[in-house]
Amino acid sequence: MPLRHPTLVEDGAAVLVLDQTRLPREAAMARLATLEDAAHAIRVMQVRGAPLIGATAAYGVALGLAADASDPHLDHVLAVLGATRPTAVNLHWALARMERVLRPSEPATRRETAWKEARAIAAEDKTANAAIGRHGLALLRARQRGGNPVQVMTHCNAGRLATVEHGTAISPIYAAHAAGIAVHVWVSETRPRNQGLLTAWELAEAGVPHTLIADNAAGLLMMQGKVDLVIVGADRIAANGDTANKVGTYLKALAAREHGVPFYVAAPLSTIDFACPAGSGIPIEERAAEELGAGAVPVANPAFDVTPAALIAGIISERGVAAAGDLAQWR
Ligand code: MRU
Repeated sequence: MPLRHPTLVEDGAAVLVLDQTRLPREAAMARLATLEDAAHAIRVMQVRGAPLIGATAAYGVALGLAADASDPHLDHVLAVLGATRPTAVNLHWALARMERVLRPSEPATRRETAWKEARAIAAEDKTANAAIGRHGLALLRARQRGGNPVQVMTHCNAGRLATVEHGTAISPIYAAHAAGIAVHVWVSETRPRNQGLLTAWELAEAGVPHTLIADNAAGLLMMQGKVDLVIVGADRIAANGDTANKVGTYLKALAAREHGVPFYVAAPLSTIDFACPAGSGIPIEERAAEELGAGAVPVANPAFDVTPAALIAGIISERGVAAAGDLAQWR
């Protein structure tokens, strides 16, 4: 059945994306017809979430080559899109993949090749995330106690809104819900941009029971035994398993360790940066002070933090579940 509100669809000459700056107030599509439209959508977070940023960037290359597919213009297109956001490696992964197929091809055929490759990236994202759901489902099944709902905590939005379809961290939750396993999701608000409201919106659409909490309530809920497991997404996973995700993730991992709650990361292989040996090498995006709404006071606004591999019970990808320190098997 087609989704009521898909995150990204083509209309022949352009790409329509669900404008996440207008959610949850209204579900409206934004039309991206040019390179600048695509770069702007990523920069201002009309599209957000590592896998969706990657797919949008791939389509951005196709849009950017519409009028000029020469080598210098290809360089320009890749540079503009590559400068939009630094942390989510899927963006750079997608651009590198587009360059790999486009660079050796004749400029006359590049536009068509670019659309084809962007389409393939989007399709593979759906398949990978569906597989993450199947692998993660086993973890939720294992936490079932009688008829009580499995209590999952998540952070930010790593649901279908962050991807072309299915989500990453939320994909196992959708799979459990579809399999008739009772599940309840603790959704943390995710200051300052409130991506938790996006998670609540999509869980409501899917009929999955959930409760929104302030970010600072997470530790208390774990201490009270109200959380069976934590599943978060990722923006970049270093080769040693250290994981960058939305700021606040690290604090949840620390609290989870203290209270014996397993802490999982779900992400497709396109989020693993094998060229980055450890989390200290991951660039952390610093976003505008205005996002904190604090007026004229000095502000620091790092958008991501890094959770050390030692705090992660396992990484769920389309290939299965692996120890965070054992990702080399997926290389
Ligand atoms: O800044 P965003 O909203 O693009 O960041 C996205 C996240 O950090 C999500 O939490 C997610 O886990 C990574 S994308 C599936």
